Order: sequence, then structure tokens, then C-alpha cells
Amino acid sequence: MKTIIINGANGYVASNFINKLLTQKYKVIALVRPSIKFSPTERMKAALAESSDDEYVNSTNLKVYSYSLLHKDFLIPQEQLEDTFSEEVDYFHFAASLKFDFKSKEEIFETNVGGLGNSIQVFSKFAKFNSRFFFIGTAYSCGRFSGRFEEKFYPNDDIDKFRNYYEQSKRFAENVVKKQIDNHGLNGHVIRLSQVVGNNKTGVTKTDYGIFDFTKRIHSLAFRNPNQTVRVHVNPVSTQNLIPIDTVVNYLLRAVEVKHIPVIMNFIAKKQVKNIHIIKSISNLLPINIVPEKKFARHEMTALERIISAGMSFTESYIDTNLQFDTSNLDKILMVDGHEANENTVHKMLEYFIDNLATQKRKRVMVSGL
Ligand SMILES: NC(=O)c1ccc[n+]([C@@H]2O[C@H](COP(=O)([O-])OP(=O)(O)OC[C@H]3O[C@@H](n4cnc5c(N)ncnc54)[C@H](OP(=O)(O)O)[C@@H]3O)[C@@H](O)[C@H]2O)c1
Repeated sequence: MKTIIINGANGYVASNFINKLLTQKYKVIALVRPSIKFSPTERMKAALAESSDDEYVNSTNLKVYSYSLLHKDFLIPQEQLEDTFSEEVDYFHFAASLKFDFKSKEEIFETNVGGLGNSIQVFSKFAKFNSRFFFIGTAYSCGRFSGRFEEKFYPNDDIDKFRNYYEQSKRFAENVVKKQIDNHGLNGHVIRLSQVVGNNKTGVTKTDYGIFDFTKRIHSLAFRNPNQTVRVHVNPVSTQNLIPIDTVVNYLLRAVEVKHIPVIMNFIAKKQVKNIHIIKSISNLLPINIVPEKKFARHEMTALERIISAGMSFTESYIDTNLQFDTSNLDKILMVDGHEANENTVHKMLEYFIDNLATQKRKRVMVSGL
């Protein structure tokens, strides 16, 4: 079986992908940075346990290496890198800063553009002929684009063409890949993900990104101020492009299996979910009545509405989107359509997520003896 090398391996999407690769008997080399308290191996094990919902994971084929994304040769000894890349591999670059705020601009660009550039250098120096480099990008690198976002490279643009520096950095990163393909023959590919949610079949949801971040904020307010009606600045008929984690993982596995694949693929949902359905689910699951309103002035807000609005600084730029994406390249590698999220499966994910928040809260209370 082919060896798959993955950086940012303890992240949400990567660890789910690794679980699947291990069940399919692939050899996986996971690159994980250490944290203050835990070694890379401990971090990887915890991420695999979390993403498998504590099911047994056979990790015989898994090696975990410590690395430093921004340093020459990842600070990995030369012999270890030669050994790591000794056979033809598929290399997946997942590592990224998912911050978006203006204060974090430097960190976002250093990680998402500088880190990618360094990753390509390591790959180009050590990888054998025919090895493939996959950059995990985002469908939101489309920025404030209107129309159908195609599976092709778009030029770099100014920040006013994007919602935040995260989007802009991911566009710049794609063009780092393009330059390496054009000038140095990199066997490179870009996979753009839309908003990754929980498992479409089981509802298990272990991410708190996007709509779940919003839900988490509403959850804590709803229990502190129960049974209130609050307006939120959301266009009810606009949509979210939600792609279930199990679908993403199946698409990624397909990319590994298919020999000749397109340079860019949009891994996105063909059917989007309307904001109103998400808001209704949250309202049904929590002691709060949320009313989405496309426009209402700040001076009309109640104190509670102002708190919610302040916590939506990221989500707010996505409350009025109806993005359209081309999937012709994705369709070329798929044998059947993926399982898409719909209002019922998203409800199930939200239910799991909210139950889990309550369980975590109970555990915290028990630990602290309160
Ligand atoms: N989740 C989504 O909805 C979504 C949507 C579109 C695109 N994507 C893309 O998919 C990829 C994975 O996203 P995710 O949701 O799985 O994110 P995640 O859970 O936050 O994982 C990010 C990974 O990147 C690593 N990382 C961050 N900064 C690093 C640094 N300076 N050096 C080394 N490693 C670093 C993190 O390591 P630490 O744990 O050590 O910080 C973690 O392993 C990203 O490239 C993201 O842009 C995700």
C-alpha cells in the first residue's frame, strides 16, 4: 500500500482522514507539532480517539513524527526525511491557521503561505518522482467573488476582495502551488473544502467551527438568559455550503485511489442549507427563540442582541452568502455523488453538538467540585 504523509495531522479533517486511511491499511506518516504538555504521539492518539468517537483504531501502520512547519527541513534529521520519502508518496498539506482577525494577520500569512512554501521545499527536495503534493485549500478563497467559482487558479487580490485574511492567505497559498507547478514542475494539486461539518450518518460532530461556533455562543447565552426572543443579523434565505466530514474523507480517499486527477478540485456541497433551517434547529434545541433578520440597526438592539452580534464577528460575514461552485473536476474522480448535508442531518449534528456541550459542562462542574 502507498504511504501517505500528512502534516497538521492532529487537526479535525486530517485526523478523520487518517482514521479512514488506517482502516484501509494505508501506511501513514503523521507530522504533528508538540504542545507544551503533550508529545506529538500523545496529541495524535487523542485526535484519533476523538475523531473515531473512541472506537478502536488499529495504528500499526501509523508513524508519528515531530516537526516544525516553518523551519528548514522541518527540523527533522536528513536521514529520517530520506527514509520518510524513500518510496513514492502522496503528501497532504493540511496545516493552517484558521484565525481570521486583523490582529493575527502576520501569524495567518506566516503559517498559511510561509508554511506551505516550506512544505513544498521539503517535498521537492526529498520526494521521489511521481509522488504527489496535495494542498488543502478552502472554497472561501473565492472571497467576495460573485458568479460560479471555477476549479482553476485565480490571481492574488487585495484584502477588500476577501472577507478576512484567512481567505486571502489561502488564495495566496494556491498561487504558491501554481508557481511551483509552472516553474519547477511540482506534481501539485489543490483541494478546496467548503465548511466541514459533522458526520452525515451518525450526527457525530467534533468540530466547533462555523455554524457550531455560533451554536456554542448561543448555547451559553440561552442558559444564562432562558426563554428570551432575540434577533440575529442573518439573512434567513441565504445559504451555508456544508460538507459532512464523512463525505470529505471519502472524497480524499478517492483522490488517493485515482491515478490521474485534476489539478484543482472543489470539495463542496451541491445542495446548500438555508440559514433559516439552521436557526430553527438551534431554536428548537435550546431555550431561546432566535429570529433571523437581514437588516436591523445596532441602536435597535437589546443588550443580549448586542452580545450575540459582537460574538458573530467571523460568522457575520457569511450570513448573506449564496456561493456557487463548479464541480466538474470533482465529478471526474467520483463514482457516485457524495452524501450531502440537508436540514435533517444538520439538525442531528446540532443535537449531538449541543448534547456534547452539556456533557462537557457537567464534567467541568464535577471536576471543579461545584
Ligand atoms: N474545517 C473547515 O470547515 C475547513 C473549511 C475549508 C478549508 N479547511 C482547511 O482544511 C485544513 C484543516 O482544517 P481543520 O478544520 O482540520 O483545522 P484544525 O483542526 O484547526 O487543524 C489545523 C492543523 O494545522 C496545524 N497548525 C496550525 N498552525 C501551525 C503551525 N504554525 N505549525 C504547525 N502546524 C500548525 C494545527 O496544529 P496545532 O494543533 O498544533 O495547532 C492543526 O494540526 C486547513 O488547511 C483549513 O484551511 C477547513
